[in-house]
Amino acid sequence: MSLPVRQDFRLIHRLRVRWAEVDLQKIVFNPHYLMYVDTAFTEYWRALAVPYEAIPETLGGDLYVKKATVEYHGSARLEDLLDIGLKCQRIGNSSMVFAGAIFRGEELLITTEMVYVFADPATQTSRPVPALLRELFTTYEAGAPTCEVRVGRWDELGAQARVLRRAVFVDELKIPEPLDEDPADAEAVHALVVNRLGHPVATARLTRDAADIARVSRVAVTRLMRSTGIGRTMMQALLQVAAERGDTRVVLRSQCSAQGFYERLGFLAIGEPVEEAGIPHIDMARVSVRP
Ligand SMILES: CC(C)(COP(=O)(O)OP(=O)(O)OC[C@H]1O[C@@H](n2cnc3c(N)ncnc32)[C@H](O)[C@@H]1OP(=O)(O)O)[C@@H](O)C(=O)NCCC(=O)NCCS
Repeated sequence: MSLPVRQDFRLIHRLRVRWAEVDLQKIVFNPHYLMYVDTAFTEYWRALAVPYEAIPETLGGDLYVKKATVEYHGSARLEDLLDIGLKCQRIGNSSMVFAGAIFRGEELLITTEMVYVFADPATQTSRPVPALLRELFTTYEAGAPTCEVRVGRWDELGAQARVLRRAVFVDELKIPEPLDEDPADAEAVHALVVNRLGHPVATARLTRDAADIARVSRVAVTRLMRSTGIGRTMMQALLQVAAERGDTRVVLRSQCSAQGFYERLGFLAIGEPVEEAGIPHIDMARVSVRP
């Protein structure tokens, strides 16, 4: 069988080889490749828009490695930049086989095969792969979107949005003011991103400051899904709503730490930073055109 090439994989993780991973010849000590592939598996779950922690609770079982095979075709060296690809190759009754490959540029260095078994965490006995998990892997591998952006009213989306706001603003960012619900929610247009397990992973809302000026607020992406593009996709959906209803400007007050996120969406900072709830913020605005 011919060896895989870069184009055979979705390259989901990139890393640089560090001192602690090499031997005296400055090439990677062989067990580290398995660690690299396992790290890429974390990225695979993020690409599925599923926080791995949600699996046992939602599906009543967990994934256990039953067999790991590594084949060495070349050596990675100190400071090499490596790209790791993973794909779900086969799903049996209770097993799932993942093929992995590590590349330096176009050069194939390593191939792996990992066999996972879906099992009961209490007894560690195998169980059939749930239909939902099977569908999650097969649709992702077929290139289908891993989450859905819903736009709607508070009475439709509020219950799930509230849970996410509480987790991000109250529990994580420790913002004292109650941000999980306020009277503006009833009038606002809400965006909620839901993954294929039906869990909310991002939320935001669009209100009006004046007849043709929209305001975005309560922007939150669940912690483990950040920097996967979910925030941008959700914001684009709300910017489209603003453009379609004829708003000429969209404004927001960003935490200074998130300024770059909004700049990439076309917002510009206005004025000087201000302190709000003990966190530095900056006002930003964007001319309303389709994103
Ligand atoms: C800020 C937040 C909404 C961004 O969402 P996200 O899903 O992580 O962002 P995305 O993955 O869609 O990133 C889109 C782009 O913005 C960049 N970006 C994301 N967060 C950034 C940040 N804090 N600073 C600078 N750039 C950022 C990404 O690198 C990406 O850039 P690219 O287009 O060049 O690739 C999210 O991190 C979050 O919920 N944080 C906690 C709550 C919060 O801060 N809310 C905002 C209150 S104003």
